[in-house]
Amino acid sequence: FSKHLTDSFDRKHNYLRISLTERCNLRCFYCMPSEGIELSPDGKLLTNDEILRLATLFVKSGVTKIRLTGGEPTVRKGIADIIASLNELRQYGLKSIGMTSNGLSLHRRLPQLVSNGLTHLNLSLDTLDPFKFELITRRKGHDAVLKALNVALESNLAAVKLNVVVIKGLNDSEVLDFVEMTKNQSISVRFIEFMPFTGNKWDQKKMVESSELLKRIKARHPEVRRAPDELNDTARSWSIPGYQGSFGFISSMSDHFCASCNRLRITADGQIKVCLFDAKEVSLRDEMRMGASDDELLEIIGQAVFGKKEKHAGMKDIDVVTNRPMILIGGNSTRR
Ligand code: GTP
Ligand code: 5AD
Ligand code: SF4
Repeated sequence: FSKHLTDSFDRKHNYLRISLTERCNLRCFYCMPSEGIELSPDGKLLTNDEILRLATLFVKSGVTKIRLTGGEPTVRKGIADIIASLNELRQYGLKSIGMTSNGLSLHRRLPQLVSNGLTHLNLSLDTLDPFKFELITRRKGHDAVLKALNVALESNLAAVKLNVVVIKGLNDSEVLDFVEMTKNQSISVRFIEFMPFTGNKWDQKKMVESSELLKRIKARHPEVRRAPDELNDTARSWSIPGYQGSFGFISSMSDHFCASCNRLRITADGQIKVCLFDAKEVSLRDEMRMGASDDELLEIIGQAVFGKKEKHAGMKDIDVVTNRPMILIGGNSTRR
């Protein structure tokens, strides 16, 4: 495993998240500031070739898992070609190609993406109520996302996960309904703690800690069992005996998982970001466009990785002033 992807706490970064676009076809309030964001001009975004060059470099250095994010990754033209070209990197050790999508335009496109090499899909869906969907996303489209979920479950994907960002008073009452979805469907539902980002008006009062949700689920289903987690998983998983799927909690706020962090990100405009909550970034795009060789790029990546902090600053001190909104980091969901 390359020293360039190992940080000063000996964490080995074998998971790369690549954001394909800053645009989104939804407007989820927790992901983008209400005043909108300023989009980078197209010329500042990585080209397909630049994405492939970086991905190749990372895979040859030890990355085995790539996840495509955004914005909404499916709004990038050419995503099918990008997946096909990433699929060629299996020869250098790449094992999985995932995507996190809001599913809005996915039901027709998914089969091609899967046949081009997509292996894992995380679908963002925060509510089972079409009216609330519109409140959260400021757009219509609930039906389309459910359709995408069904197509995904019938496809050859190795795993389908449902991401539910839980907001107190808005969708926390639906947690048991989401758990019921795991009864007859092989999905893993993940309840995500609302996290603070620039412009998303985060307030601890809107957050429901995972421990509280688990208590409510246990009250209904005393038989719940801890389920095995994947290595370096963001979620702690549980299941109900006899149910096909499982559910889990991504507790970034109340119980962070930084000690086992294995992820790096590249933003759509080509910056390497070593931690979701650290505003510090280095432009790989500029280095490539100034003619850096692969070895030079690796040195720059290595320095950024080596400078990664041990953990994020905690609930009170997360930097929401200079960090980017989630839409520009490589969440997915949401902005033009
Ligand atoms: P898997 O590859 O399936 O494990 O997906 P994932 O959970 O890494 O990524 P996904 O894009 O589905 O993101 C789901 C949630 O995970 C996000 O809302 C975040 O709360 C959280 N998350 C993703 N990446 C990071 C990260 O680097 N740090 C922290 N603290 N949370 C993250
Ligand atoms: N807090 C928690 N999760 C968020 N996401 C976007 N913004 C936030 C936030 N403020 C989620 C999306 C998507 C995942 C990649 O990140 O819903 O599922
Ligand atoms: Fe990794 Fe930073 Fe997320 Fe912690 S906050 S898990 S160090 S990206």
